[in-house]
Amino acid sequence: IKNLFLVRHAESEYNVRDMVGGNSNLTDKGRKQAWALSRHFIGTPLPYIFTSSLTRTLEMAEPLLETRKGQTTHHAFPEFDEIDVGECDGMSYAEIERTRPDLFAARTRNKYNFVYPGGEGYATMAGRVYRGVKKALYLSGNSEHIMIIGHQAVNRMILSDFLFRRAEDVPYIFIPQDKYFHIVSTQTKKLFELRKF
Ligand code: F6P
Repeated sequence: IKNLFLVRHAESEYNVRDMVGGNSNLTDKGRKQAWALSRHFIGTPLPYIFTSSLTRTLEMAEPLLETRKGQTTHHAFPEFDEIDVGECDGMSYAEIERTRPDLFAARTRNKYNFVYPGGEGYATMAGRVYRGVKKALYLSGNSEHIMIIGHQAVNRMILSDFLFRRAEDVPYIFIPQDKYFHIVSTQTKKLFELRKF
């Protein structure tokens, strides 16, 4: 049995301003949410925590790592970094719609296959995200609990594997910031539930 706790980082500075890309910090509220996550998992063994290489997931892991000194191994994988939005880096959705209406419309029409100029799309990031999952499963060996702290698009890609969604629905899966997915995988089945922390 493997338990995968799939967490999205809590509120970031860019989230508040509805901006994409960048490498922003968590807000004060986000940092409080990170502590709530850590408290929620008291008593649950977590030998491995995987994050992206971006600040907001590292900050989300901080309280967990601090309260489990020596009991948890942390790996930061660039494979779990958020979708690269290329030329739109640092823009808000409203700004993209205003200054790049062509891109905005193309993305709205076909969000899964759309690729940001100079960046990625859901379809093109899938390979590296799954590579990250494989690496995480390999490194964590037989351990029964692992946690991945990722991002909205990344967690959608990971989840889509369990939810059997059509590709075009994947970019719309709801990924909240105060709840996590607990995925239990046995040789014959996978069960999952969305839980508040
Ligand atoms: O809102 C935060 C964020 O993680 C962005 O960094 C990213 O571009 C976006 O979500 C992905 O979600 P969507 O594909 O719905 O724009």
